[in-house]
Formats: sequence, structure tokens, C-alpha cells
Amino acid sequence: MPNPAGELRFRWVLASASLRPVTKGKQPLYLCMGSACHQRGGFRLLPQLEALIAQHGLQECVELKGAFCLDHCLQGRSLRFEDRILIDVSPENLEARFVTEILPHVRHA
Ligand code: FES
Repeated sequence: MPNPAGELRFRWVLASASLRPVTKGKQPLYLCMGSACHQRGGFRLLPQLEALIAQHGLQECVELKGAFCLDHCLQGRSLRFEDRILIDVSPENLEARFVTEILPHVRHA
């Protein structure tokens, strides 16, 4: 079921975040907000990513940002961290993929 409030928050947070330069010393974690990922419910990943960043104490190391398209539209919701593209990300697999594919590559401040 659509969640208009969640979608609006997603658009506002990512649009405002994507326009600002990355904070010095932080590694950007891009969540795709392109139309294909959005149609697949990519906005549902936003609160989970915020929670995972906080849970692992990465607020000073990782900055969550929006991307307009990560060029993997046919492969499911996408994230980019450094040179890694994570495709087919879902609310169900996000935590495991965050721990195995993102966390090991975080440079702690
Ligand atoms: S819209 Fe997300 S990868 Fe293109």
C-alpha cells in the first residue's frame, strides 16, 4: 500500500541532501531516487538506512545522499557506496547487505 507521507519525506530528504556537497571527511552513501527505483518502493529504504547508520555509529563517517539514477534501473532498487553499486536491494535484504557490503568499507573518522 502506498505511503504518501513516507514518499514525500523521501523526496524532501533526498532532494535536499543531494543538492548539498558531501560533508568533508564523510563517505557518501547514495540511495537512488530515480523513477524506476522509486516505483519499486526505494523510499522504504530511507528510514532503514538512517537507522543502520545510527545503529552502527556512522553518523560522523557516512552521509546519506540521493542520486537521480545509478544506471541499473532494470536490476531493482540501487545504492552506491564508493565504487560499489548494490542492486536489487530490498527492505528484507538491506540490513544484511549493509553489514556485508558497506560496513567493511567504511573509513572510521
Ligand atoms: S532509477 Fe534507480 S538505477 Fe535508475
